[in-house]
Amino acid sequence: MSTAAEIAETVAPVEPALNVQPLWIGPIKVDPPILQAPMAGYTNYAYRQIVRDFGGAGLQATEMVSARGFLAIEEHHDEFPDRLWGVKDEARPLAVQMWDNDPDTLAEVGARLAHEFKVSVVDINFGCPVKQISEHAHSGSYLLREPDRIGRIIEKVVAACAPTPVTAKIRLGCDRTCVTAPHVAEIVEQSGAAALTVHGRVASDFFRGNADWEQISALKQRLKRIPLIGNGDLDTPQKVVAAFRQYDVDGVMIARAALSKPWLFRQAAAALRGEAIPADLTLDQERTLLLDHYRLVLERFGPQKGTLLMRKFACCYAQGRPGCREFRTKVCHVFTPDEFYEVVERYFPKFACVEAFDTAKRRATPED
Ligand SMILES: Cc1cc2nc3c(=O)[nH]c(=O)nc-3n(C[C@H](O)[C@H](O)[C@H](O)COP(=O)(O)O)c2cc1C
Repeated sequence: MSTAAEIAETVAPVEPALNVQPLWIGPIKVDPPILQAPMAGYTNYAYRQIVRDFGGAGLQATEMVSARGFLAIEEHHDEFPDRLWGVKDEARPLAVQMWDNDPDTLAEVGARLAHEFKVSVVDINFGCPVKQISEHAHSGSYLLREPDRIGRIIEKVVAACAPTPVTAKIRLGCDRTCVTAPHVAEIVEQSGAAALTVHGRVASDFFRGNADWEQISALKQRLKRIPLIGNGDLDTPQKVVAAFRQYDVDGVMIARAALSKPWLFRQAAAALRGEAIPADLTLDQERTLLLDHYRLVLERFGPQKGTLLMRKFACCYAQGRPGCREFRTKVCHVFTPDEFYEVVERYFPKFACVEAFDTAKRRATPED
């Protein structure tokens, strides 16, 4: 990994070590039990490489793949979708997530992922709240109102993928009047899934409010055999430790916070072991990391598509830093590598805190 991943400073551990055990998804050991969430449009090969280089994620996931899209592409003898970029060759363990509502389609694609792509885990999405997938395609979170169908899907996919384990990712329900997770959890287990991940919101919340960890934790009583993985709003190593301390979960999953800090898994893993938490990257290190990330994206997508794709990752890296708004505005208008490099050089935040930023601004703009 680049020197950017060399985190020099550390902060003292905040709490005594927790005796958190690895979790098992069928025969796959997830150690530490901190999972990198699937995120459409983000958790591609380049991002996963970066997370892997920092360490600390016991299992990583791809973006979700449309099962129907997978089959259609194959019919036309096209290249496999960008969403499967790197999957055949990269390090294991690796989970691939897929979505659809048809048991046979999911079973066919699951079997291909398990036996041909040899992924470690086949995950099925039952939580996506996005309209095109839920309301229009009757998939993702829409299926939370049809637990029996979820059961039929899992049974078929498990049979088709064996011995590769199959997992399910859900939300608490479709909306406040349809909180089906307790029943769905039982069905997921009875149908042969090897783990259940729960994002502690209902679909109609999208990302509003806070994830309800009490409700996630309560699901543990519904499961006899398989691990429960809690997900939602974990954005510091301390919150990861608190999740294990306060709630009845076997593992945790992190999504958004690790887009701006892909080293968060490493920090969280250290915190769980009761070790000093590695410090955040400096801004210089972050800039180097951003450019490393860009290089990986360019190699796959070329200058035009790669630059467009990289805009949103660049915004994530700058997030929360003084000057990030100006950087965001500029980087969202770049089209070529030259423009990208120039904007990063000139506008990527240089100050980690507001006070230092204000002082530098005052110095740069002499008063009249
Ligand atoms: C941009 C974006 C894309 C996402 N894509 C997926 C996806 O493809 N599959 C999935 O199961 N969840 C997806 N999610 C949900 C996350 O995996 C996770 O459940 C949610 O963000 C809550 O975790 P967090 O609070 O750590 O972000 C996505 C979330 C975001 C923000």
